[in-house]
Amino acid sequence: MDFKGRDIISIRDFTKEDIEFILSVADRVQGTQPEPILRGKILTCLFYEPSTRTRLSFEAAVQRLGGRAIGFADMGGSSETKGESLIDTVKTVEQYCDVMVIRHPREGAARLCAQVSEVPVINAGDGSNQHPTQTLLDLYTVMKEMGRLDVEVALIGDLKYGRTVHSLAYALGMFNAKITLVSPEGLEMPRGVVSDLKKAKINLVESSDLAEVIPKVDVLYVTRIQRERFPDPEEYEKVKGAYRITPEILTKARDKLIILHPLPRVNEISSEVDRTKHAKYFQQVSYGLPVRMAILKLVLGE
Ligand code: NCD
Repeated sequence: MDFKGRDIISIRDFTKEDIEFILSVADRVQGTQPEPILRGKILTCLFYEPSTRTRLSFEAAVQRLGGRAIGFADMGGSSETKGESLIDTVKTVEQYCDVMVIRHPREGAARLCAQVSEVPVINAGDGSNQHPTQTLLDLYTVMKEMGRLDVEVALIGDLKYGRTVHSLAYALGMFNAKITLVSPEGLEMPRGVVSDLKKAKINLVESSDLAEVIPKVDVLYVTRIQRERFPDPEEYEKVKGAYRITPEILTKARDKLIILHPLPRVNEISSEVDRTKHAKYFQQVSYGLPVRMAILKLVLGE
């Protein structure tokens, strides 16, 4: 399978076989001492939105493989503040690097960059739309922790504005997972995504009763409410704190239940849950590194 030069924009651009292949490369990377196969390669991070894990793990991944990272971590650090267009920025940055990773508040921004860029572009989140590399590490985590991907999963929280759950729902669908959607009123999964999944005959249900859902799933994928994407702050006030995972609500959970979260967490998982055997979100963070090393290795064709 040849990924050299390929952009990673939407998880829907990948087949089930593509995804299985990337996860298998990540597994090999994880088990070995990294070789400096990306020596001389430069990765640029163009981050127009805050990030801790995604940016730092891409930077760590390229450096562990012998390459280097440059870039900016917030909009204020780029010439966008002087009025430069995203396209002009990309036409500039491509001269300096071998691959670029972009996070931008506008849906479709990464696709646009990929259309004009000579070097591969990796989408690290475009508005509420997609976050494909997060999905790859989410799938990798499920595979490592459960040994399979055809699991019963509940996606919980802000399914409207959260991009990780959009990418993840499509990917889980490819692997025959059974998906339950649980969200506060008004933050439901976009109807377009639901209808795509239903057309593909994915096993999908929607529920508003978290306590009733928890005993029936293998994976709880919890997300924060995306406050920054609410057009009206009052609407955020109405839904904040609408759900919270606590040890009490987990008493009827399956023994092997795993709880994942793309992080950052605000208050949707209480810190007491961290001490339970179900909490796997920091393990999930650790898998970000081998998965992103695998992605860079493949895209740069080494
Ligand atoms: C997520 C994101 O940026 O979409 N964070 C991440 O990359 N792990 C989730 C979020 O911000 O809620």
